[in-house]
Amino acid sequence: MTSSKRQGLKIAIAGKGGVGKTTVAAGLARLFAAEGRRVIAVDADPDANLGSALGAPGQELASLAPLARMGDLVAERVGSPGGFFRLNPKVDDLPESISLDIDGVRLLVLGSVEKGGAGCICPESAMLKALVRYLVIEVNDVVILDMEAGIEHLGRGTASYVDAFVVVAEPGKRSAQTASTVSKLAAELGVESCFLVVNKVRSTEEASAVSNALPELAYLGSISESEAIRAADVAGVPCDDPLFVKELLSLKEALVKKVKNAKGLGLEINAV
Ligand SMILES: Nc1ncnc2c1ncn2[C@@H]1O[C@H](COP(=O)(O)OP(=O)(O)O)[C@@H](O)[C@H]1O
Ligand SMILES: [Mg+2]
Repeated sequence: MTSSKRQGLKIAIAGKGGVGKTTVAAGLARLFAAEGRRVIAVDADPDANLGSALGAPGQELASLAPLARMGDLVAERVGSPGGFFRLNPKVDDLPESISLDIDGVRLLVLGSVEKGGAGCICPESAMLKALVRYLVIEVNDVVILDMEAGIEHLGRGTASYVDAFVVVAEPGKRSAQTASTVSKLAAELGVESCFLVVNKVRSTEEASAVSNALPELAYLGSISESEAIRAADVAGVPCDDPLFVKELLSLKEALVKKVKNAKGLGLEINAV
């Protein structure tokens, strides 16, 4: 039996707001699902919109409460501050019980947690951290985390189990600055493999300029600035534009190859 670290494929996607994290996360999730992989897509951005990028119908999304808002469930599993408080609540049923299936991708929406005082651990944040830990360390599926720049829910101890930390940047100084900050944060948390995807590029020179500005990140590939991506977003449907799918496929292949090399021959990504 190989160690749990060698099972599945765990990808966290981070970067400045608006660079295209959700677009890349949804695109990769759909590609892996189309290959017959079991895929869990985790919306870990408080500004949650992964469901819409995956093409979930509006009314289904509206009825999907984020985990952080499931007060009764959180109280039942974690307890309450001052009372009984469990830091490792049961979460293994949640990927089935609170997810929404969208074309073979299981979507989990985490939601945001109000910041407490310094040192305060609130039940919601304990629950979210426990679920992310479980998904990253225990689950044997493809798990894709659509994060924010702050990588809030990725605690020390979980981060080192992420196979690929993908930072998305677009041409320009500002997103490169955020990319650099996020990758430092990830490295401090113990993430071993940080990659760069340059989105919204108009030429190969633009992609190289961003990648040259971020030597600490291993360049994975780029996605062209595309009217089709924008139009799909406006229509609330996933983007199946041939150029976008081709670019995503090459990103996915580069990613799987690099992770396989890093993990050795033990990598097995479970099919359905
Ligand atoms: N390659 C691209 N070309 C054109 N528009 C894009 C591209 N990638 C993303 N977008 C658009 O940019 C906006 C932000 O993308 P999104 O994936 O939501 O970013 P993030 O999740 O990082 O905030 C959306 O309107 C999306 O449709
Ligand atoms: Mg997003």
